[in-house]
Amino acid sequence: MLLFSGLFFLMQHHLQELRASFLDQVSKAKTVAELEQLENAFLGRKGSITNLLKGIKDLSDEEKKVFGKMANELKKELEATLAQRSQEVEKSQFGNLAGQFFDVSLPGKKPAVGRLHPLTKFIQEVEDTFLSMNFEIAEGPEIEDDYHNFTALNIPADHPARDMQDTLWAKDIPFLLRTHTSPVQVRYMESHRPPIRIVCPGRVFRKDDVDATHSPMFHQFEGLMIDTKTNLSHLKGILTIALRRLIHPELELRFRSSYFPFVEPGLEVDVSCANCKGKGCPVCKHSGWIEMLGCGMVHPNVLKSVGLDPQVYQGFAFGAGIERLLMKKYAINDIRLFYENDPRFLEQFPHV
Ligand code: PHE
Repeated sequence: MLLFSGLFFLMQHHLQELRASFLDQVSKAKTVAELEQLENAFLGRKGSITNLLKGIKDLSDEEKKVFGKMANELKKELEATLAQRSQEVEKSQFGNLAGQFFDVSLPGKKPAVGRLHPLTKFIQEVEDTFLSMNFEIAEGPEIEDDYHNFTALNIPADHPARDMQDTLWAKDIPFLLRTHTSPVQVRYMESHRPPIRIVCPGRVFRKDDVDATHSPMFHQFEGLMIDTKTNLSHLKGILTIALRRLIHPELELRFRSSYFPFVEPGLEVDVSCANCKGKGCPVCKHSGWIEMLGCGMVHPNVLKSVGLDPQVYQGFAFGAGIERLLMKKYAINDIRLFYENDPRFLEQFPHV
């Protein structure tokens, strides 16, 4: 009959304690690194179980056999538990990578980050710029009638100015695709009384064949400010602030007289070339100046057509082509680039 010594029982008790402590800590571990630490602390060369086993030399031969067997079984149990828990932890830490080769030393892949289209981004900048000057954003339909696109803008049916913009007419019904954003002025003034300050970005359409500088669809933004004393100096001030913010902080503006049926006087605005800062380059055809937009004081006939008395009210309007402006700002030589969505083009614009 086998009698165990006090040392044997002490060691056995210690072994059970280590087992309980190990199992408890393993079940609470959340990372592979924590499990590796536990393995080292208990089962490693200097671990507490390994240490305990060193005391085996003080046991009797019989006790050595029994304790050795117990310790081995315990080690197996603990290793199996550790392996099982490692799998769970790995899964939650790295996803299920079982059976896959996973090289943790590989450099990461740069994620492809989307961005706003340069036209969308610019329209947002136009809106922000004018909102900051107390303008409202107004919109109108892209399918217009003759009255709002032409007649109310002082372009009657037989007026030669209709040829200034080749129109896309609907078949059999009296509608057209708006040739400019100016009809939004008319619609807004029909439903709002002065003081009026609006900016209207949007799509416009003309019967043009596609080439490097023409597209049957492009974008404009229209501005309108009407009050009792609004005059050309306000137009000049507001356009200077806006275009400096939208194109270049040191931009210079030059006003030339021009003709549009819906303004009197009509003006064209040139801006100093953003590419060469006015020194002369291929973008500005070596003149240092670039034609940027049309503007002027709203024609009395336009005010009359929306029921405003031109003796009381006055104001200005302007309209600018967005693609054209961006082409000059960034020295882009082909309008088609805006519509092809080639990432090599789009990626050259800053992120939002
Ligand atoms: N609507 C004109 C165009 O498309 C631009 C413009 C707007 C000119 C307002 C003067 C005043 O060419």
